[in-house]
Order: sequence, then structure tokens, then C-alpha cells
Amino acid sequence: MPVSRRHFVSALGLGGAGLLSPPLFGGRGHEARLADWLATPAAPAGLIRLDSNENPNGPGARAFDAIRAMFGEANRYPGDPERALIIAIAKQHGVAEENVVLGCGSSEILRMCVEAFCSSAQHLVTASPTFELPANFARTMGRPVVSVPVDGKLRLDLDAMANKSGGAGLIFFCNPNNPTATVYGDAAVREWVAHVRRESPATRILIDEAYHEYVDDPTYKSAIPMALADPNIIVSRTFSKVFGMAGLRAGYAIAHRDTARRLQPWRLGSGVNVLALAAATASISDAEHIALEQRRNREAKAFTRAFFEKAGYEVGVSETNFLMIDLKRDMRPVREACRKDGVAVGRPFPPLTTWLRISIGTMDEMQKATEVLRKALA
Ligand SMILES: Cc1ncc(COP(=O)(O)O)c(C=O)c1O
Repeated sequence: MPVSRRHFVSALGLGGAGLLSPPLFGGRGHEARLADWLATPAAPAGLIRLDSNENPNGPGARAFDAIRAMFGEANRYPGDPERALIIAIAKQHGVAEENVVLGCGSSEILRMCVEAFCSSAQHLVTASPTFELPANFARTMGRPVVSVPVDGKLRLDLDAMANKSGGAGLIFFCNPNNPTATVYGDAAVREWVAHVRRESPATRILIDEAYHEYVDDPTYKSAIPMALADPNIIVSRTFSKVFGMAGLRAGYAIAHRDTARRLQPWRLGSGVNVLALAAATASISDAEHIALEQRRNREAKAFTRAFFEKAGYEVGVSETNFLMIDLKRDMRPVREACRKDGVAVGRPFPPLTTWLRISIGTMDEMQKATEVLRKALA
């Protein structure tokens, strides 16, 4: 069931007595806001939000129970709940607690990496398009950014990125990549890391695995084992996607002990609140919930892909909870038309201005959204 306001309120057992005000639920996704935070009005009621790669079904039952149980700790700083989540993450990945760094969403991890490893003399290498937050942080901090276009198949151009890594402080490698939904398998990642090493032995490599749980490609593997063995590799993960907690804000890094120590001072302090910590701790090992969300995503994604392919559009490979579709024309008027009809789709991702990114909602939402799209594309 999608997390309607009513469902969320009843799941928390609050009785819906005005405790949660409408604006909390009316806002748009953090991810969509990155480009146009102030320019975009709050979402009208009933908007189908397919613009921020969120999980439309929300957290699992265990998370709601944990949130309820944690209300009584709201007056305390989150020391113990932080420790509980670190222990749960370490157990889940078979790593030591000292390998885990918590973040207020994985966004905080990305910022920490840019702050810790880039400087005015040590640039950031990123892709175009990819998740733009690291580049945005770097530019704000006055750190140079080198951006490498994706190739003709919308894949990150790994060799070109490695070739730009000489003297870089950090390379941002989003695997799977947002917004192109492509992924590299384990062998390709290992080969690429070796290439970067040859070009620039001291450059740190940040591997963003925000969409890890949605990958079906059997050649893909998490880079966490590489991060444990190599102090130059950091893996970031989030509770915002398959776990359905984008609004709660929790993420983490797995890194070698020395690298984790380098990152810790750049944390906000206690940047993850007690409710998010409790929900994340309860959810990380909830294999049943993860499997359910994977299945729901797969089904609604297959339905959406079939809609576009039947209509004659090219749909990119997708190892995530979103699809890229080549409309073969400027996607902006289509986006505007969808918005007017109550469906928010992804923003433009230059230079791919003819490609539309659509996040996968519930099956019901995708059935409604494809009808709106049919009209917008006519
Ligand atoms: C690739 C990628 N990394 C990181 C994030 C940030 O997510 P969060 O801060 O919610 O963990 C996003 C958000 O959409 C993303 O797409």
C-alpha cells in the first residue's frame, strides 16, 4: 500500500488528530528539489510523484514499530541509538563498527567526502549526467570539478573518468548511475579501480550504491569488500530508496578504518535523528520487506517499460527504481504537461535533454501516470 497521509498516520498510531500538518506531505522530493528548490511550488494534493526516485510504499512495519517505541527518547541526544545503528550496519555487512560512518542521508556522506578529500588543488572527477550533489558541493566549496560525459549507451565513461583522475582528490562513481540507471559489474569496477590507481595512486574513489538493492544484473557486486581492503575506496549507501525512508534521512559509508577516521570529523555531529536511527536499525535486516519492495518495483517497472516500448520509444537499461526514455524531442514541454495533469516526472538532465526520467511508483500510480503520459505525448 502506498504511504498516503492517512496510512502513515494510522501506522504510527497517532489517530490523525492534526499532529501531522499537510505541508509535511505536500512537499516535493529532496532529489527533485536539488535543481530548482525555490522555483518549484509545493506539490498539490494528489500529485503522483515520480520525480525523485523515492519508494512509493514507504518503510516496512518494523520501522513504524521502532519509530513508535523511540518517541520517548525524543528529548535525548542520539548517542545510544547511533551506536545501535552502527552495530546493525556492521553486522549486516560483516564489517567492524569502525568501518561505518553515519550520515544524514547519504547526501551527508557525499559532502563529507568532498570536504575531506578535495581542495583547490585537488579536483573532483564526476560524470555528466550523474547524481549532481558532489559536484554542487565541490563548486560551493570552491573546489574544481571535471565532468566526463556518459557514452552513447548512457554508461559512465570509466576510462575517460580514470584518464581525468591525475591529481584529483576524489572520483565520484555512481553505480548504478542516477539518472541513467546503468550499472557496471564487479570485474569492470575492479579493472577501472586499477586504471585509476595507475593514473593517480592517491585519488579517493567514492562509489555510490544508493540503488544497490534494485540491481538485477548478475555481474554486479557491491564494492564494500574493496573498500575494506583499500583505504582509497569509500562506499555510500542510503535508507532513502528500497527502505522507503527518504524523509527520515539516514545513510552511511563503509570504508577502511583509517578512511572512516578521516571522514568522522566532517560529520554534522549527531546528524541522524532518533526516529530515523530507530527505523533504520529495525529495517536493515528486514529481508522480507526488501524482497517485497524489489518485487513491486520490478513489476511496476516492467509495466511502465512495456507502455513506452509499445508506443515506439527507446527505453534505456534500468538497474534501479527509475527508467530513462528517449522522447526524441525536448522533454520539458512533456514534463510540464504531465505536471498540469497531476504527475511529476524527472527534471532535465543535460546533455540528455530528450530523455525523460521517470521514477517507478506503485502499479496503480504507474497505470494512472501512463495515461497522463499518453496524452502528453500525443
Ligand atoms: C545516486 C544517489 N546518491 C545519493 C542520493 C542521496 O540520497 P539520500 O541523501 O536521501 O541518502 C540520491 C538521491 O536521490 C541518489 O540518487
